Amino acid sequence: MRREVFAVLALLALSCAVPAQPLRDLAAARGIRVGAAVAPGYFSEQPYADTLAREFNQAQPENAMKFGLIHPARDTYNWTDADAIAAFAAAHGQALRGHTLVWHNQVPAWLANGGFDSTRMAAILQDHIRTVVGRYAGRVYAWDVVNEAFNNDGTLRGTLWYDTPGIGLSGTGYIEQALRWTRDADPGAKLFYNDYSAEGSNTKSDAIYAMARDFKARGVPLDGIGLQMHFTTSTPSLASMEANIRRLTDLGLEVQITELDVRLPVDASGVASAANLAAQAKIYGDVTALCLKFPLCTAIQTWGFTDRHSWIPSSFAGYGAGLEFDASYQPKPAYDAMAASFKTAPPVIAAGALTNAASYAADAVSPGEIAVLFGATWGPASLQLAPVSGLRLLFDGTPATLIYARVGQASVVVPFSVAGRSSTQLQYEYNGVASNAVAVPLRAAVPGIFTLDSSGHGPGAVLDSAYRVISRDNPARRGDVLQVFATGGGALAADSKLAAPVSATIGGVDCPVQYAGAAPGLIAGAVQVNLAVPAGVPSGEQPLSIAVGGAASQPGVTVVVQ
Ligand code: G3I
Repeated sequence: MRREVFAVLALLALSCAVPAQPLRDLAAARGIRVGAAVAPGYFSEQPYADTLAREFNQAQPENAMKFGLIHPARDTYNWTDADAIAAFAAAHGQALRGHTLVWHNQVPAWLANGGFDSTRMAAILQDHIRTVVGRYAGRVYAWDVVNEAFNNDGTLRGTLWYDTPGIGLSGTGYIEQALRWTRDADPGAKLFYNDYSAEGSNTKSDAIYAMARDFKARGVPLDGIGLQMHFTTSTPSLASMEANIRRLTDLGLEVQITELDVRLPVDASGVASAANLAAQAKIYGDVTALCLKFPLCTAIQTWGFTDRHSWIPSSFAGYGAGLEFDASYQPKPAYDAMAASFKTAPPVIAAGALTNAASYAADAVSPGEIAVLFGATWGPASLQLAPVSGLRLLFDGTPATLIYARVGQASVVVPFSVAGRSSTQLQYEYNGVASNAVAVPLRAAVPGIFTLDSSGHGPGAVLDSAYRVISRDNPARRGDVLQVFATGGGALAADSKLAAPVSATIGGVDCPVQYAGAAPGLIAGAVQVNLAVPAGVPSGEQPLSIAVGGAASQPGVTVVVQ
Protein backbone atom coordinates (compact mmCIF):
# COMPACT_ATOMS: atom_id res chain seq x y z
CA MET A 1 0.00 0.00 0.00
CA ARG A 2 2.64 2.45 1.13
CA ARG A 3 4.69 1.66 -1.96
CA GLU A 4 1.72 2.54 -4.16
CA VAL A 5 1.26 5.86 -2.41
CA PHE A 6 4.90 6.68 -3.00
CA ALA A 7 4.60 5.68 -6.62
CA VAL A 8 1.62 7.99 -7.06
CA LEU A 9 3.41 10.85 -5.26
CA ALA A 10 6.50 10.35 -7.41
CA LEU A 11 4.38 10.41 -10.53
CA LEU A 12 2.63 13.55 -9.35
CA ALA A 13 5.95 15.26 -8.66
CA LEU A 14 7.15 14.33 -12.12
CA SER A 15 4.02 15.55 -13.82
CA CYS A 16 4.26 18.86 -11.93
CA ALA A 17 7.71 19.39 -13.34
CA VAL A 18 6.52 18.86 -16.91
CA PRO A 19 4.64 21.85 -18.32
CA ALA A 20 1.08 21.08 -19.36
CA GLN A 21 1.53 22.20 -22.93
CA PRO A 22 5.08 22.25 -24.22
CA LEU A 23 6.23 25.31 -26.10
CA ARG A 24 6.36 23.36 -29.35
CA ASP A 25 2.61 22.63 -29.20
CA LEU A 26 1.82 26.24 -28.37
CA ALA A 27 4.05 27.44 -31.22
CA ALA A 28 2.45 24.98 -33.66
CA ALA A 29 -0.95 26.54 -32.95
CA ARG A 30 0.62 29.87 -33.90
CA GLY A 31 2.01 28.48 -37.15
CA ILE A 32 5.61 29.09 -36.14
CA ARG A 33 8.54 27.09 -34.84
CA VAL A 34 10.21 27.36 -31.49
CA GLY A 35 13.81 26.30 -31.57
CA ALA A 36 17.04 26.04 -29.69
CA ALA A 37 20.72 26.00 -30.58
CA VAL A 38 22.08 22.64 -29.52
CA ALA A 39 25.31 20.79 -28.94
CA PRO A 40 25.38 17.00 -29.42
CA GLY A 41 27.88 16.57 -26.59
CA TYR A 42 24.96 17.00 -24.19
CA PHE A 43 22.55 14.54 -25.79
CA SER A 44 23.74 11.87 -23.38
CA GLU A 45 22.60 14.07 -20.48
CA GLN A 46 19.06 12.72 -20.15
CA PRO A 47 17.29 15.88 -18.95
CA TYR A 48 18.94 17.80 -21.81
CA ALA A 49 17.68 15.36 -24.44
CA ASP A 50 14.25 15.04 -22.80
CA THR A 51 13.70 18.78 -22.49
CA LEU A 52 14.93 19.47 -26.01
CA ALA A 53 12.68 16.80 -27.49
CA ARG A 54 9.64 17.78 -25.43
CA GLU A 55 9.73 21.55 -25.84
CA PHE A 56 11.14 22.38 -29.26
CA ASN A 57 10.11 21.73 -32.84
CA GLN A 58 13.27 23.24 -34.31
CA ALA A 59 16.94 22.61 -33.62
CA GLN A 60 20.10 24.25 -34.89
CA PRO A 61 23.72 23.34 -34.26
CA GLU A 62 25.32 25.95 -32.02
CA ASN A 63 28.72 25.17 -33.49
CA ALA A 64 28.74 21.84 -35.33
CA MET A 65 28.10 23.15 -38.85
CA LYS A 66 30.55 26.04 -38.70
CA PHE A 67 33.40 25.92 -41.19
CA GLY A 68 36.15 25.16 -38.70
CA LEU A 69 34.28 22.25 -37.14
CA ILE A 70 32.74 20.63 -40.17
CA HIS A 71 35.66 21.20 -42.55
CA PRO A 72 38.72 21.03 -40.28
CA ALA A 73 41.32 20.18 -42.94
CA ARG A 74 41.39 21.02 -46.60
CA ASP A 75 40.25 17.60 -47.73
CA THR A 76 38.51 16.51 -44.55
CA TYR A 77 34.94 16.98 -43.50
CA ASN A 78 33.82 15.96 -40.03
CA TRP A 79 30.15 15.16 -40.13
CA THR A 80 29.89 13.40 -36.77
CA ASP A 81 28.35 16.19 -34.67
CA ALA A 82 26.20 17.69 -37.39
CA ASP A 83 24.86 14.26 -38.30
CA ALA A 84 24.06 13.56 -34.66
CA ILE A 85 22.00 16.75 -34.48
CA ALA A 86 20.26 15.98 -37.78
CA ALA A 87 19.40 12.51 -36.49
CA PHE A 88 18.09 13.87 -33.18
CA ALA A 89 15.97 16.43 -35.00
CA ALA A 90 14.56 13.82 -37.37
CA ALA A 91 13.79 11.43 -34.51
CA HIS A 92 11.85 14.12 -32.66
CA GLY A 93 10.01 15.82 -35.49
CA GLN A 94 12.13 18.95 -35.31
CA ALA A 95 12.87 21.20 -38.26
CA LEU A 96 16.62 21.59 -38.70
CA ARG A 97 18.22 25.00 -39.23
CA GLY A 98 21.73 25.22 -40.65
CA HIS A 99 24.30 27.62 -39.17
CA THR A 100 26.44 28.93 -40.88
CA LEU A 101 28.26 28.85 -44.21
CA VAL A 102 30.00 32.20 -44.46
CA TRP A 103 31.35 33.73 -41.26
CA HIS A 104 34.57 35.36 -40.14
CA ASN A 105 34.74 33.32 -36.89
CA GLN A 106 35.52 29.68 -36.29
CA VAL A 107 37.40 29.27 -39.54
CA PRO A 108 40.05 26.54 -39.59
CA ALA A 109 43.77 27.34 -39.52
CA TRP A 110 44.34 25.71 -42.93
CA LEU A 111 42.03 28.30 -44.44
CA ALA A 112 42.93 31.33 -42.34
CA ASN A 113 46.67 30.79 -42.78
CA GLY A 114 46.62 29.21 -46.23
CA GLY A 115 47.70 32.29 -48.16
CA PHE A 116 45.02 31.63 -50.80
CA ASP A 117 44.29 34.30 -53.39
CA SER A 118 40.72 35.42 -54.21
CA THR A 119 40.34 32.90 -57.01
CA ARG A 120 41.25 30.02 -54.69
CA MET A 121 39.06 31.43 -51.89
CA ALA A 122 36.08 31.53 -54.23
CA ALA A 123 36.67 27.95 -55.34
CA ILE A 124 37.08 26.79 -51.73
CA LEU A 125 33.87 28.50 -50.61
CA GLN A 126 31.83 27.24 -53.54
CA ASP A 127 33.05 23.72 -52.95
CA HIS A 128 32.38 23.99 -49.20
CA ILE A 129 28.82 25.19 -49.79
CA ARG A 130 28.17 22.53 -52.40
CA THR A 131 29.46 19.80 -50.10
CA VAL A 132 27.83 20.86 -46.83
CA VAL A 133 24.51 22.09 -48.21
CA GLY A 134 24.37 19.15 -50.59
CA ARG A 135 24.81 16.67 -47.74
CA TYR A 136 21.93 18.13 -45.75
CA ALA A 137 19.68 18.93 -48.72
CA GLY A 138 16.12 18.01 -47.82
CA ARG A 139 17.04 17.92 -44.11
CA VAL A 140 18.11 21.48 -43.35
CA TYR A 141 15.04 23.58 -44.13
CA ALA A 142 16.75 26.95 -43.68
CA TRP A 143 20.36 28.10 -43.74
CA ASP A 144 22.05 31.05 -42.14
CA VAL A 145 24.04 31.43 -45.35
CA VAL A 146 25.96 34.50 -44.28
CA ASN A 147 26.45 35.53 -40.66
CA GLU A 148 27.44 38.92 -39.25
CA ALA A 149 28.80 40.58 -42.40
CA PHE A 150 28.12 44.16 -41.26
CA ASN A 151 29.80 46.43 -38.74
CA ASN A 152 27.59 48.40 -36.38
CA ASP A 153 28.18 51.55 -38.48
CA GLY A 154 26.61 49.86 -41.48
CA THR A 155 29.85 49.29 -43.38
CA LEU A 156 30.83 45.79 -44.44
CA ARG A 157 33.07 44.00 -42.00
CA GLY A 158 36.54 43.18 -43.28
CA THR A 159 36.71 39.37 -43.44
CA LEU A 160 38.47 36.61 -45.28
CA TRP A 161 35.41 36.24 -47.50
CA TYR A 162 34.99 39.95 -48.24
CA ASP A 163 38.38 41.62 -48.55
CA THR A 164 41.19 39.80 -46.76
CA PRO A 165 41.60 38.50 -49.45
CA GLY A 166 37.88 37.96 -50.21
CA ILE A 167 36.42 35.91 -53.04
CA GLY A 168 36.99 38.70 -55.54
CA LEU A 169 33.63 40.50 -55.40
CA SER A 170 33.04 44.03 -54.17
CA GLY A 171 30.34 45.29 -51.81
CA THR A 172 27.62 42.81 -51.00
CA GLY A 173 28.63 40.82 -54.08
CA TYR A 174 30.17 38.05 -52.00
CA ILE A 175 26.97 37.68 -49.97
CA GLU A 176 24.94 37.48 -53.16
CA GLN A 177 27.33 34.90 -54.57
CA ALA A 178 27.09 32.74 -51.44
CA LEU A 179 23.29 32.89 -51.61
CA ARG A 180 23.34 31.82 -55.25
CA TRP A 181 25.72 28.93 -54.58
CA THR A 182 23.53 27.78 -51.70
CA ARG A 183 20.38 27.94 -53.81
CA ASP A 184 22.14 25.84 -56.46
CA ALA A 185 23.20 23.28 -53.85
CA ASP A 186 19.69 22.92 -52.37
CA PRO A 187 16.88 24.68 -54.25
CA GLY A 188 14.45 23.68 -51.48
CA ALA A 189 16.18 25.38 -48.56
CA LYS A 190 15.23 28.83 -47.29
CA LEU A 191 18.17 31.19 -47.32
CA PHE A 192 18.77 33.65 -44.49
CA TYR A 193 21.14 36.48 -43.71
CA ASN A 194 21.73 36.52 -39.93
CA ASP A 195 23.14 39.27 -37.69
CA TYR A 196 23.19 40.81 -34.19
CA SER A 197 22.55 44.35 -32.92
CA ALA A 198 20.28 44.83 -35.92
CA GLU A 199 16.99 44.05 -34.19
CA GLY A 200 15.75 47.61 -33.90
CA SER A 201 15.94 50.34 -36.49
CA ASN A 202 19.53 51.60 -36.49
CA THR A 203 22.46 52.20 -38.83
CA LYS A 204 23.30 48.53 -39.04
CA SER A 205 19.75 47.34 -39.65
CA ASP A 206 19.36 50.13 -42.24
CA ALA A 207 22.32 48.65 -44.13
CA ILE A 208 20.91 45.14 -43.91
CA TYR A 209 17.53 46.38 -45.05
CA ALA A 210 19.10 48.20 -48.01
CA MET A 211 20.91 45.02 -49.02
CA ALA A 212 17.75 42.94 -48.65
CA ARG A 213 15.70 45.39 -50.71
CA ASP A 214 18.35 45.42 -53.43
CA PHE A 215 18.52 41.60 -53.43
CA LYS A 216 14.74 41.26 -53.63
CA ALA A 217 14.56 43.83 -56.44
CA ARG A 218 17.16 41.94 -58.45
CA GLY A 219 15.88 38.44 -57.75
CA VAL A 220 18.85 37.36 -55.65
CA PRO A 221 17.77 34.25 -53.70
CA LEU A 222 17.19 35.60 -50.20
CA ASP A 223 14.21 34.30 -48.19
CA GLY A 224 14.68 35.80 -44.78
CA ILE A 225 16.58 37.78 -42.19
CA GLY A 226 17.68 36.31 -38.88
CA LEU A 227 17.59 38.66 -35.90
CA GLN A 228 19.87 37.19 -33.26
CA MET A 229 18.62 39.03 -30.16
CA HIS A 230 21.49 38.52 -27.73
CA PHE A 231 20.15 40.93 -25.16
CA THR A 232 20.77 42.34 -21.72
CA THR A 233 17.74 43.64 -19.82
CA SER A 234 18.21 46.85 -21.79
CA THR A 235 16.84 46.04 -25.24
CA PRO A 236 15.98 48.15 -28.26
CA SER A 237 12.44 49.49 -27.90
CA LEU A 238 9.61 47.23 -29.00
CA ALA A 239 8.43 49.96 -31.37
CA SER A 240 11.82 50.10 -33.02
CA MET A 241 11.99 46.32 -33.43
CA GLU A 242 8.43 46.27 -34.73
CA ALA A 243 9.27 48.91 -37.34
CA ASN A 244 12.32 46.95 -38.46
CA ILE A 245 10.44 43.65 -38.72
CA ARG A 246 7.67 45.43 -40.58
CA ARG A 247 9.93 46.88 -43.24
CA LEU A 248 11.65 43.53 -43.74
CA THR A 249 8.43 41.53 -43.97
CA ASP A 250 6.97 44.21 -46.25
CA LEU A 251 9.68 43.11 -48.71
CA GLY A 252 8.11 39.65 -48.58
CA LEU A 253 10.98 38.30 -46.48
CA GLU A 254 10.55 36.00 -43.53
CA VAL A 255 12.01 37.10 -40.23
CA GLN A 256 13.21 34.61 -37.65
CA ILE A 257 14.47 35.30 -34.16
CA THR A 258 17.55 33.12 -34.23
CA GLU A 259 19.66 33.44 -31.08
CA LEU A 260 17.55 34.91 -28.29
CA ASP A 261 19.03 35.10 -24.81
CA VAL A 262 18.87 37.77 -22.10
CA ARG A 263 21.98 37.69 -19.95
CA LEU A 264 21.72 38.74 -16.31
CA PRO A 265 24.24 39.59 -13.60
CA VAL A 266 24.72 36.46 -11.48
CA ASP A 267 26.36 35.60 -8.18
CA ALA A 268 29.16 33.08 -7.80
CA SER A 269 26.66 30.22 -8.02
CA GLY A 270 25.17 31.55 -11.24
CA VAL A 271 21.99 32.82 -9.57
CA ALA A 272 20.26 36.00 -10.79
CA SER A 273 18.00 38.29 -8.76
CA ALA A 274 14.25 37.78 -8.81
CA ALA A 275 13.81 41.30 -10.18
CA ASN A 276 16.12 40.59 -13.08
CA LEU A 277 14.45 37.24 -13.77
CA ALA A 278 11.14 39.11 -13.96
CA ALA A 279 12.61 41.72 -16.30
CA GLN A 280 14.01 38.93 -18.42
CA ALA A 281 10.62 37.22 -18.50
CA LYS A 282 8.99 40.39 -19.75
CA ILE A 283 11.45 40.54 -22.63
CA TYR A 284 10.83 36.90 -23.56
CA GLY A 285 7.08 37.44 -23.49
CA ASP A 286 7.27 40.71 -25.43
CA VAL A 287 9.54 39.27 -28.10
CA THR A 288 7.24 36.27 -28.52
CA ALA A 289 4.19 38.51 -28.86
CA LEU A 290 6.09 40.75 -31.27
CA CYS A 291 6.86 37.84 -33.57
CA LEU A 292 3.21 36.76 -33.44
CA LYS A 293 2.19 40.12 -34.88
CA PHE A 294 3.72 39.13 -38.21
CA PRO A 295 2.53 36.24 -40.37
CA LEU A 296 6.06 36.27 -41.84
CA CYS A 297 7.84 36.00 -38.48
CA THR A 298 8.21 32.26 -38.63
CA ALA A 299 10.44 31.10 -35.77
CA ILE A 300 11.64 31.99 -32.30
CA GLN A 301 14.87 30.30 -31.33
CA THR A 302 16.95 30.65 -28.20
CA TRP A 303 20.73 30.28 -28.10
CA GLY A 304 20.69 27.10 -26.07
CA PHE A 305 17.77 26.51 -23.73
CA THR A 306 19.20 25.73 -20.31
CA ASP A 307 21.39 27.95 -18.16
CA ARG A 308 23.43 24.82 -17.54
CA HIS A 309 24.90 25.10 -21.02
CA SER A 310 25.23 28.58 -22.45
CA TRP A 311 27.93 30.61 -24.17
CA ILE A 312 27.23 33.57 -21.85
CA PRO A 313 29.26 32.86 -18.67
CA SER A 314 32.47 32.22 -20.59
CA SER A 315 32.01 35.31 -22.76
CA PHE A 316 30.69 37.83 -20.20
CA ALA A 317 32.29 37.53 -16.78
CA GLY A 318 29.70 37.86 -14.01
CA TYR A 319 26.77 37.20 -16.34
CA GLY A 320 24.64 34.16 -17.02
CA ALA A 321 21.09 32.85 -16.53
CA GLY A 322 20.09 34.01 -20.01
CA LEU A 323 17.79 31.20 -21.09
CA GLU A 324 14.27 29.91 -20.44
CA PHE A 325 15.24 26.83 -18.38
CA ASP A 326 17.46 27.06 -15.33
CA ALA A 327 20.55 24.94 -14.76
CA SER A 328 18.34 22.16 -13.34
CA TYR A 329 16.08 22.16 -16.41
CA GLN A 330 13.23 23.83 -14.54
CA PRO A 331 11.18 26.35 -16.53
CA LYS A 332 11.93 29.93 -15.49
CA PRO A 333 9.62 32.96 -15.52
CA ALA A 334 10.95 33.57 -19.05
CA TYR A 335 9.47 30.24 -20.11
CA ASP A 336 6.11 31.07 -18.55
CA ALA A 337 6.11 34.43 -20.31
CA MET A 338 6.74 32.83 -23.69
CA ALA A 339 3.98 30.33 -23.05
CA ALA A 340 1.61 33.09 -21.95
CA SER A 341 2.22 35.07 -25.13
CA PHE A 342 1.66 32.00 -27.27
CA LYS A 343 -1.65 31.47 -25.43
CA THR A 344 -2.96 35.03 -25.44
CA ALA A 345 -1.34 37.27 -28.08
CA PRO A 346 -4.10 38.25 -30.51
CA PRO A 347 -4.06 36.66 -33.95
CA VAL A 348 -3.06 39.01 -36.72
CA ILE A 349 -4.37 39.10 -40.27
CA ALA A 350 -2.91 41.03 -43.18
CA ALA A 351 -4.76 43.15 -45.71
CA GLY A 352 -4.92 41.31 -49.02
CA ALA A 353 -4.75 37.89 -47.36
CA LEU A 354 -8.32 36.90 -48.23
CA THR A 355 -8.31 35.19 -51.62
CA ASN A 356 -10.72 33.49 -53.98
CA ALA A 357 -10.57 29.76 -53.17
CA ALA A 358 -10.45 28.84 -56.87
CA SER A 359 -8.26 31.54 -58.42
CA TYR A 360 -6.46 32.98 -55.37
CA ALA A 361 -7.30 36.46 -56.66
CA ALA A 362 -6.66 38.75 -53.69
CA ASP A 363 -7.88 42.19 -54.73
CA ALA A 364 -11.57 41.81 -53.80
CA VAL A 365 -14.22 39.26 -52.87
CA SER A 366 -17.92 38.95 -53.67
CA PRO A 367 -21.02 37.92 -51.69
CA GLY A 368 -21.20 34.14 -51.34
CA GLU A 369 -17.64 33.60 -52.55
CA ILE A 370 -15.69 30.64 -51.19
CA ALA A 371 -12.55 32.32 -49.94
CA VAL A 372 -9.31 31.32 -48.25
CA LEU A 373 -7.66 33.53 -45.67
CA PHE A 374 -3.92 32.97 -45.48
CA GLY A 375 -1.51 33.82 -42.70
CA ALA A 376 -3.62 34.32 -39.56
CA THR A 377 -1.23 33.73 -36.66
CA TRP A 378 -3.38 31.45 -34.52
CA GLY A 379 -5.60 28.41 -35.06
CA PRO A 380 -5.70 24.62 -34.92
CA ALA A 381 -2.21 23.20 -35.44
CA SER A 382 -3.56 20.66 -37.94
CA LEU A 383 -6.29 20.95 -40.54
CA GLN A 384 -9.86 20.58 -39.27
CA LEU A 385 -13.04 20.43 -41.25
CA ALA A 386 -15.91 22.58 -39.99
CA PRO A 387 -17.05 22.93 -37.33
CA VAL A 388 -13.70 24.30 -36.17
CA SER A 389 -13.82 24.72 -32.43
CA GLY A 390 -13.06 28.23 -31.20
CA LEU A 391 -12.68 29.82 -34.63
CA ARG A 392 -14.86 32.55 -36.18
CA LEU A 393 -14.39 34.78 -39.21
CA LEU A 394 -16.56 37.86 -39.04
CA PHE A 395 -17.59 40.04 -41.98
CA ASP A 396 -18.95 43.33 -40.66
CA GLY A 397 -19.58 41.38 -37.47
CA THR A 398 -21.47 38.51 -39.17
CA PRO A 399 -19.87 35.10 -38.64
CA ALA A 400 -19.16 33.34 -41.92
CA THR A 401 -19.74 29.65 -42.68
CA LEU A 402 -16.39 27.90 -42.21
CA ILE A 403 -15.28 25.08 -44.48
CA TYR A 404 -11.94 24.13 -42.94
CA ALA A 405 -9.09 25.71 -41.04
CA ARG A 406 -5.65 25.25 -39.69
CA VAL A 407 -3.34 27.94 -38.40
CA GLY A 408 -2.35 30.12 -41.33
CA GLN A 409 -5.16 28.97 -43.64
CA ALA A 410 -8.92 29.18 -43.18
CA SER A 411 -11.62 28.67 -45.80
CA VAL A 412 -14.99 30.41 -45.49
CA VAL A 413 -18.00 31.45 -47.49
CA VAL A 414 -18.26 35.25 -47.61
CA PRO A 415 -21.77 35.95 -46.27
CA PHE A 416 -24.30 36.76 -48.99
CA SER A 417 -25.49 39.50 -46.65
CA VAL A 418 -22.57 41.79 -47.59
CA ALA A 419 -24.14 42.32 -51.04
CA GLY A 420 -24.43 45.94 -52.08
CA ARG A 421 -21.52 47.22 -49.95
CA SER A 422 -18.23 48.44 -51.41
CA SER A 423 -16.10 46.87 -48.70
CA THR A 424 -16.38 44.71 -45.63
CA GLN A 425 -14.46 44.65 -42.35
CA LEU A 426 -12.93 41.23 -41.80
CA GLN A 427 -11.95 39.99 -38.37
CA TYR A 428 -10.57 36.64 -37.28
CA GLU A 429 -11.26 35.31 -33.81
CA TYR A 430 -9.73 32.31 -32.10
CA ASN A 431 -10.40 31.08 -28.58
CA GLY A 432 -12.34 34.28 -27.94
CA VAL A 433 -9.42 36.56 -28.88
CA ALA A 434 -10.07 38.84 -31.86
CA SER A 435 -7.57 39.92 -34.49
CA ASN A 436 -7.15 43.34 -36.01
CA ALA A 437 -9.83 44.21 -38.57
CA VAL A 438 -8.92 44.64 -42.21
CA ALA A 439 -11.04 46.24 -44.93
CA VAL A 440 -11.66 43.90 -47.86
CA PRO A 441 -12.99 45.46 -51.08
CA LEU A 442 -16.23 43.92 -52.36
CA ARG A 443 -17.36 43.48 -55.93
CA ALA A 444 -20.66 42.12 -57.26
CA ALA A 445 -18.83 39.09 -58.72
CA VAL A 446 -15.22 37.86 -58.67
CA PRO A 447 -15.49 34.61 -60.60
CA GLY A 448 -12.78 32.00 -60.19
CA ILE A 449 -12.83 28.58 -61.84
CA PHE A 450 -11.67 25.70 -59.66
CA THR A 451 -8.73 23.82 -61.15
CA LEU A 452 -7.97 20.12 -60.92
CA ASP A 453 -4.70 20.56 -59.01
CA SER A 454 -6.03 23.44 -56.86
CA SER A 455 -3.29 25.74 -58.13
CA GLY A 456 -5.65 28.20 -59.80
CA HIS A 457 -4.00 27.43 -63.16
CA GLY A 458 -4.20 24.73 -65.81
CA PRO A 459 -6.99 22.20 -66.36
CA GLY A 460 -10.28 23.42 -64.89
CA ALA A 461 -12.64 21.39 -62.71
CA VAL A 462 -14.98 20.44 -65.53
CA LEU A 463 -17.31 17.45 -65.95
CA ASP A 464 -18.98 16.24 -69.12
CA SER A 465 -22.72 15.57 -69.26
CA ALA A 466 -22.06 12.04 -67.95
CA TYR A 467 -20.31 13.47 -64.85
CA ARG A 468 -16.85 12.33 -66.01
CA VAL A 469 -13.89 14.65 -65.44
CA ILE A 470 -12.63 16.32 -68.61
CA SER A 471 -8.99 15.40 -69.22
CA ARG A 472 -6.65 14.41 -72.04
CA ASP A 473 -8.17 10.92 -71.78
CA ASN A 474 -11.69 12.28 -71.77
CA PRO A 475 -11.64 15.47 -73.86
CA ALA A 476 -14.71 17.66 -74.26
CA ARG A 477 -16.80 16.75 -77.28
CA ARG A 478 -18.47 19.34 -79.49
CA GLY A 479 -22.20 19.32 -78.92
CA ASP A 480 -21.86 18.05 -75.32
CA VAL A 481 -22.80 20.15 -72.30
CA LEU A 482 -20.00 20.73 -69.77
CA GLN A 483 -20.35 21.51 -66.06
CA VAL A 484 -17.75 24.06 -64.95
CA PHE A 485 -17.24 24.54 -61.19
CA ALA A 486 -16.45 27.98 -59.90
CA THR A 487 -17.05 30.43 -57.08
CA GLY A 488 -17.37 34.19 -56.78
CA GLY A 489 -20.53 34.39 -58.88
CA GLY A 490 -22.11 36.93 -56.56
CA ALA A 491 -25.74 37.20 -55.53
CA LEU A 492 -28.26 34.47 -56.36
CA ALA A 493 -31.79 35.09 -57.63
CA ALA A 494 -34.77 33.40 -55.99
CA ASP A 495 -34.42 30.39 -58.32
CA SER A 496 -30.80 29.88 -57.13
CA LYS A 497 -29.44 31.06 -60.46
CA LEU A 498 -26.77 33.79 -60.51
CA ALA A 499 -28.43 37.20 -60.46
CA ALA A 500 -26.01 38.68 -63.03
CA PRO A 501 -25.80 37.53 -66.67
CA VAL A 502 -23.20 34.85 -67.42
CA SER A 503 -21.21 34.19 -70.58
CA ALA A 504 -18.49 31.65 -71.37
CA THR A 505 -15.82 30.98 -73.98
CA ILE A 506 -13.57 28.06 -74.88
CA GLY A 507 -10.60 28.91 -77.10
CA GLY A 508 -12.13 32.36 -77.50
CA VAL A 509 -15.34 30.94 -78.99
CA ASP A 510 -18.63 31.84 -77.28
CA CYS A 511 -20.36 28.89 -75.62
CA PRO A 512 -24.11 29.06 -74.93
CA VAL A 513 -24.72 29.01 -71.16
CA GLN A 514 -27.61 26.74 -70.25
CA TYR A 515 -27.44 27.14 -66.48
CA ALA A 516 -25.39 29.23 -64.06
CA GLY A 517 -26.15 29.11 -60.38
CA ALA A 518 -25.85 27.19 -57.16
CA ALA A 519 -24.16 23.81 -57.61
CA PRO A 520 -26.69 21.22 -56.46
CA GLY A 521 -25.37 19.20 -53.54
CA LEU A 522 -22.36 21.45 -52.94
CA ILE A 523 -21.87 24.10 -50.30
CA ALA A 524 -23.62 27.45 -50.81
CA GLY A 525 -21.16 29.61 -52.70
CA ALA A 526 -20.07 26.87 -55.09
CA VAL A 527 -21.21 27.80 -58.58
CA GLN A 528 -21.95 25.52 -61.51
CA VAL A 529 -21.99 26.80 -65.08
CA ASN A 530 -23.41 24.43 -67.72
CA LEU A 531 -22.21 25.38 -71.18
CA ALA A 532 -22.60 23.82 -74.58
CA VAL A 533 -19.47 23.15 -76.64
CA PRO A 534 -20.17 24.67 -80.05
CA ALA A 535 -18.97 23.23 -83.35
CA GLY A 536 -16.47 26.05 -83.92
CA VAL A 537 -14.33 25.37 -80.82
CA PRO A 538 -10.74 24.42 -81.74
CA SER A 539 -9.17 21.11 -80.66
CA GLY A 540 -6.54 20.58 -77.98
CA GLU A 541 -5.99 22.28 -74.61
CA GLN A 542 -7.93 25.54 -74.90
CA PRO A 543 -8.37 28.52 -72.57
CA LEU A 544 -11.64 28.40 -70.63
CA SER A 545 -13.25 31.57 -69.35
CA ILE A 546 -16.52 32.57 -67.76
CA ALA A 547 -17.78 36.08 -67.10
CA VAL A 548 -20.40 37.12 -64.55
CA GLY A 549 -21.87 40.56 -65.06
CA GLY A 550 -18.82 41.40 -67.16
CA ALA A 551 -16.25 40.22 -64.57
CA ALA A 552 -14.03 37.52 -66.08
CA SER A 553 -12.58 34.45 -64.38
CA GLN A 554 -8.82 34.15 -63.94
CA PRO A 555 -6.63 33.64 -67.03
CA GLY A 556 -4.67 30.42 -67.44
CA VAL A 557 -7.50 27.91 -66.92
CA THR A 558 -7.88 25.32 -69.68
CA VAL A 559 -10.09 22.55 -70.96
CA VAL A 560 -9.07 19.84 -73.43
CA VAL A 561 -11.25 19.64 -76.54
CA GLN A 562 -11.36 16.54 -78.73
O1 G3I B 1 35.56 22.68 -29.04
C1 G3I B 1 36.59 23.36 -28.34
C2 G3I B 1 37.16 22.46 -27.28
O2 G3I B 1 37.77 21.35 -27.89
C3 G3I B 1 38.17 23.26 -26.45
O3 G3I B 1 38.61 22.48 -25.41
C4 G3I B 1 37.51 24.50 -25.90
C5 G3I B 1 38.50 25.36 -25.12
O4 G3I B 1 38.19 26.73 -25.22
O5 G3I B 1 37.01 25.26 -26.96
C6 G3I B 1 36.02 24.59 -27.70
O6 G3I B 1 35.59 25.42 -28.72
C7 G3I B 1 34.77 26.48 -28.31
C8 G3I B 1 33.44 26.34 -29.05
O7 G3I B 1 32.64 27.44 -28.78
C9 G3I B 1 32.69 25.08 -28.65
O8 G3I B 1 32.35 25.14 -27.31
C10 G3I B 1 35.43 27.77 -28.69
O9 G3I B 1 36.59 27.97 -27.91
C11 G3I B 1 34.48 28.91 -28.49
O10 G3I B 1 35.07 30.11 -29.03
C12 G3I B 1 33.19 28.64 -29.22
O11 G3I B 1 32.32 29.68 -28.94
C13 G3I B 1 31.21 29.77 -29.77
C14 G3I B 1 31.17 31.11 -30.47
O12 G3I B 1 30.02 31.22 -31.24
C15 G3I B 1 32.38 31.31 -31.37
O13 G3I B 1 32.39 32.61 -31.84
C16 G3I B 1 29.97 29.60 -28.92
O14 G3I B 1 29.91 28.27 -28.41
C17 G3I B 1 28.73 29.88 -29.73
O15 G3I B 1 27.64 29.94 -28.89
C18 G3I B 1 28.87 31.21 -30.45
O16 G3I B 1 27.76 31.38 -31.27
C19 G3I B 1 27.62 32.62 -31.93
C20 G3I B 1 26.88 32.38 -33.21
O17 G3I B 1 27.47 31.37 -33.97
C21 G3I B 1 26.73 33.64 -34.03
N1 G3I B 1 26.15 34.70 -33.25
C22 G3I B 1 26.75 34.95 -31.97
C23 G3I B 1 26.83 33.68 -31.15
C24 G3I B 1 27.36 33.95 -29.78
O18 G3I B 1 28.69 34.38 -29.83
